[in-house]
Amino acid sequence: MLAPMAGVSDLPFRLISRSFGAPLAFTEMIDVRAISHRDKRTRKMLMSSPDDRPLGVQLLGADEKYLAGALDVLTEYDFDLLDFNAACPTPKVTRKGKGAALLKEPRKLGAILKVLVDYSKVPVTVKIRTGWDEDSVNAREVALYAEDAGISALFIHGRTKAQGYNGTVDYKNIKEVKDALKIPVIASGDNLSLLLIKKMFNETGCDGVAIARGALGNPWIFREAIRFFQDGTLMTGFSMDERIATIIKHFDLVIEYNGEERGIGIFRKFFIWYTKGLRGIKPLRDKAFRTNKKDQFLEIVEELRTFHDFHLSSL
Ligand SMILES: Cc1cc2nc3c(=O)[nH]c(=O)nc-3n(C[C@H](O)[C@H](O)[C@H](O)COP(=O)(O)O)c2cc1C
Repeated sequence: MLAPMAGVSDLPFRLISRSFGAPLAFTEMIDVRAISHRDKRTRKMLMSSPDDRPLGVQLLGADEKYLAGALDVLTEYDFDLLDFNAACPTPKVTRKGKGAALLKEPRKLGAILKVLVDYSKVPVTVKIRTGWDEDSVNAREVALYAEDAGISALFIHGRTKAQGYNGTVDYKNIKEVKDALKIPVIASGDNLSLLLIKKMFNETGCDGVAIARGALGNPWIFREAIRFFQDGTLMTGFSMDERIATIIKHFDLVIEYNGEERGIGIFRKFFIWYTKGLRGIKPLRDKAFRTNKKDQFLEIVEELRTFHDFHLSSL
């Protein structure tokens, strides 16, 4: 499935990922207080469409008292799963006791999850990390509290908060969590290629995987992974025509939901990801950063045809 990514997993990117087979996708994390205030930015994060299903909404927070209010507001939206973030390592988040900071307070996390399970009309899940740092790896304990609270599945990113997004993934710890729980465990961390995804399944026995950075500029990874696990087929890449068609489809969706000027601003980072590894791409990227007109941007995308058809695979 497509993992939640702040600033990335918006409606257009979720739709593109789904078009290549991602079976479940999440909003980025949304603060429960912001949901209660119904602010514009938050409403945008919750924007969805009928073909954007099944959808998980990911919540961030630390204070039980805001949960019920947020869930009341959420009854106005259609979604299928409520995920709670106990994994975000950003200091701005953890300083307030949210995200990965909750790993240090498994009881408190359990109490928050219990409230969510009691109030929510849809299944509740949680996303954790292996621990706060290497001296306090406690995912198994945290996961058991979470399971006791009545959650339906658990997502685990196999790194500590201190590791951020670097360093090795702790497959052994994910396996310990998987072995300790009765509910499904979905593993995250370096699911960047088919071989790494296979390694994740083999070494942890997880029930599913969430793909994050591996889908940036590479939504084909879902199609390739599904084929690979269905019948062992290793697809070895995709053509420049398909790449361009996908970029245009994604770009059109971003413009449709955000308007021309803002949409181009949002899409620039995706353009960088889609063109990763192309030799001599810098001048075209610079051009893409200078324009704020849709037609010009599309002309820039068309110029990609002059680049050699190259094959980037998710192997
Ligand atoms: C740009 C970015 C934003 C992220 N935002 C979130 C988020 O909002 N909620 C969350 O649970 N995880 C978030 N993550 C973590 C990913 O969901 C995933 O667990 C992590 O990147 C490890 O997977 P990977 O090594 O395959 O990228 C984010 C990751 C990235 C790279």
